[in-house]
Amino acid sequence: MLSLKLDSLGVRPLGAEDAPELYALIEANREHLERWMPWAAGQDLAGTERFIAEAEEQFARDDGFQAKVAPEGQIVGVAGFHSIDWINRNTSIGYWLAADAQGKGTMSEVVRALVSHAFDEWDLHRVEIHCAPENARSRAIPERLGFREEARLRETELVGGRYLDSVVYGLLEEEWGSTPT
Ligand SMILES: CC(C)(COP(=O)(O)OP(=O)(O)OC[C@H]1O[C@@H](n2cnc3c(N)ncnc32)[C@H](O)[C@@H]1OP(=O)(O)O)[C@@H](O)C(=O)NCCC(=O)NCCS
Repeated sequence: MLSLKLDSLGVRPLGAEDAPELYALIEANREHLERWMPWAAGQDLAGTERFIAEAEEQFARDDGFQAKVAPEGQIVGVAGFHSIDWINRNTSIGYWLAADAQGKGTMSEVVRALVSHAFDEWDLHRVEIHCAPENARSRAIPERLGFREEARLRETELVGGRYLDSVVYGLLEEEWGSTPT
């Protein structure tokens, strides 16, 4: 079960039954997604099914989750935790939205609720978000939520045949307490 806040935003763990709808959304948004997401250009239906199966295993072993974002019932994006480092109490968050679901503050609210989930439900210490330097819309999300820009990693992701750097944003639990909600 996810927190009530996540549930009220329509954020629910992905299940096998979501594969056709999620794949149709990826297909309709492929050009939009493949600019930034290394998996987007080549993903077929079997790839979406594999992603969901792995997400279900991740959830079952208490290693975070991948959720559909469906504020009005239909899926408009995905957000989740890559994994949880329980020893060091940290995690990282990733996300995407369909092109026509952008510009409404949806993902900022979802990421805010995921961060609260990490600190309040799991008692984690640190959350990271990695964005390509040129991905202004993505960078605006951690910046809006009070994350600190901490580092730039060189050529971490191969997207569309070129290596992109990652800007690392970090937020500590004690800093979250002072962030306006
Ligand atoms: C990254 C991505 C999710 C950002 O989407 P987004 O719609 O810009 O983000 P949000 O849903 O938080 O919405 C913020 C926008 O809504 C506006 N907005 C409206 N109401 C708002 C509210 N209550 N709170 C915050 N923003 C609000 C903001 O002004 C902003 O619009 P602007 O950029 O025109 O100023 C989306 O661009 C995307 O999926 N891109 C492709 C995949 C990708 O890059 N993923 C991230 C990889 S690291």
